[in-house]
Amino acid sequence: MKVCVVGGAGYIGSHTVYELIDAGHEVVVVDNLSTGLKDAVHKDASFYEGDITDFASLDKIITDESRKKPFDVVMHFAAKIVVPESVKNPSLYYYNNVEGVRTLLDVMVKHGIKNIIFSSTAAVYGEGKDGICTEESETKPINPYGETKLVSEKMIGWFAQAYGMNYCIFRYFNVAGAHKSLEIGLLRDHLTHIVPVTIQTALGIREKMTVFGSDYDTYDGTCVRDYIHVSDIAYAHVLGMKHIALNNISEIINLGSNQGFSVKDIISEVEKHHPVNHEYGARREGDPAKLIASNKRAKEILGWTPKRDLSDIILSDLEFRKRHKK
Ligand code: UFG
Repeated sequence: MKVCVVGGAGYIGSHTVYELIDAGHEVVVVDNLSTGLKDAVHKDASFYEGDITDFASLDKIITDESRKKPFDVVMHFAAKIVVPESVKNPSLYYYNNVEGVRTLLDVMVKHGIKNIIFSSTAAVYGEGKDGICTEESETKPINPYGETKLVSEKMIGWFAQAYGMNYCIFRYFNVAGAHKSLEIGLLRDHLTHIVPVTIQTALGIREKMTVFGSDYDTYDGTCVRDYIHVSDIAYAHVLGMKHIALNNISEIINLGSNQGFSVKDIISEVEKHHPVNHEYGARREGDPAKLIASNKRAKEILGWTPKRDLSDIILSDLEFRKRHKK
């Protein structure tokens, strides 16, 4: 299939491009390089610099490429994804994440592209009832990031109904780790996610880290999350794309592991390799206590289960950061 990957120079996008190319698909990457890296784009993919909120530039790229061969699928990864940043700057999140999706959908409609794979998030569930989320769980985001993804999911649903499109919406839980080649991983300035922050601290790239809150209603007082390797997430996109395009169907699917680990567990796992200089601080705004996926639907519909566990996640990110010294 010919696939347009918007945000394909970013973390999850670049890993998905690797999986698509490994599976023999033709890939065109569009990225504005705001957080993505040109070097992260697989050498066998075509690359265009373009912004998801700019209809004219997206339209031109799709027009030029479609002359060679029309697209079968668009994948959307071009989102702002940092929960605390969204709490501080909601406008940025509504503009990039919601207006960006609307623009992309308009371009797809204009060019008659029928299939979209959309990166959504566990943050659409908010607190979750007992912290275990099935796709039927109530959606009640507690931060602007989750809200913008939920609005986008609904918008995609309405476009699909109006224009006969298929979608596969993936709700990711906590994605971490790096590609086995160690060529791509989560590389950017001012990282805030727990896995890279802990590993940077272990490697001395950061002096110290803070655990945000130790009085949550969880087994050790720190927040519990469902960690999933980025290459497992990426491979699910290859399966999801085939499923919706061949069966002319739409799906919403959690991508997680059915298992939760606390912030303390992450530190302990990293400390199997190196000590981590950490302190305990106040809770961070917008953090739910516990978010764990039920991944039953991914298994039933796509035959997908994660192949890598927490120790693989930590080890791959650790090796990646040792190599890139970041
Ligand atoms: N944390 C710390 N110290 C740090 C960084 C994080 O204690 O320096 C804690 C957070 O407070 C939170 C946990 O580690 O309790 C995980 O935080 P992350 O920032 O790594 O990830 P989030 O759970 O906030 O968000 C991530 C993605 C979202 C996704 C969500 C789903 O960024 O896109 O997981 O669970 F929605």
